[in-house]
Amino acid sequence: MALPAVVFLLALSSLTAATAPDCKDLVKPFMPEDPKLIFGKWVYVLGAGDPKPYHKALESLKSSWIELSPTSDSQIVTLRWGDHCFNRCVWGEVNATVSGLATTFRKNLSDHKGHILQTCSDCLLWTDTFRNGDTTGRYILQFTRAGQIDPKDVEIFKKQIGCLNFPENFHSYDGKTELCPHDKDSTE
Ligand SMILES: *[C@@H]1O[C@H](CO)[C@@H](O)[C@H](O)[C@H]1NC(C)=O
Ligand SMILES: *[C@@H]1O[C@H](CO)[C@@H](O)[C@H](O)[C@H]1NC(C)=O
Repeated sequence: MALPAVVFLLALSSLTAATAPDCKDLVKPFMPEDPKLIFGKWVYVLGAGDPKPYHKALESLKSSWIELSPTSDSQIVTLRWGDHCFNRCVWGEVNATVSGLATTFRKNLSDHKGHILQTCSDCLLWTDTFRNGDTTGRYILQFTRAGQIDPKDVEIFKKQIGCLNFPENFHSYDGKTELCPHDKDSTE
């Protein structure tokens, strides 16, 4: 009767040995060798926030796109966005500073600092922490080019948010709500 217990313990320890480096690899900050891979437009598909009010706030985000463009300064990237929330579109633009693996910007009085994580191809996974006065929080947001995501890539996203201790009940884009037009002034 002792043998199965030993085997079980061995199996258990090899499992933990296998899962521990897993998380480390899944949440390693990442910068593509070719920065062009991150430029252009991305559509929000999955996200989570922490603490709760920020997680909850994602529910009001019915659709969202971002666009990253290079500037003449290789350290500065322009981030534009169009968020569909509370039945209206909100557009914005900031210049983000890239320094090594970290990217910082100020959006709506909050100072954000974040980085990209390894993810599926044609996908962009962003996580940041932000501070606004005494308030701090963090987000993780998954974008894809087409606004859809493969179920197997959703599984990887789930593991990644688990590793980072974000709420498990992540938020997803419904895939239906129209994206806000690219320009505030467009007649769409
Ligand atoms: C970002 O930088 C560019 C070039 O330096 C400038 O033209 C633009 O106004 C800046 N945008 C914002 C939102 O600060
Ligand atoms: C900007 O911040 C203010 C105060 O911090 C908040 O009331 C408002 O909802 C924020 N706006 C957006 C678009 O996040």
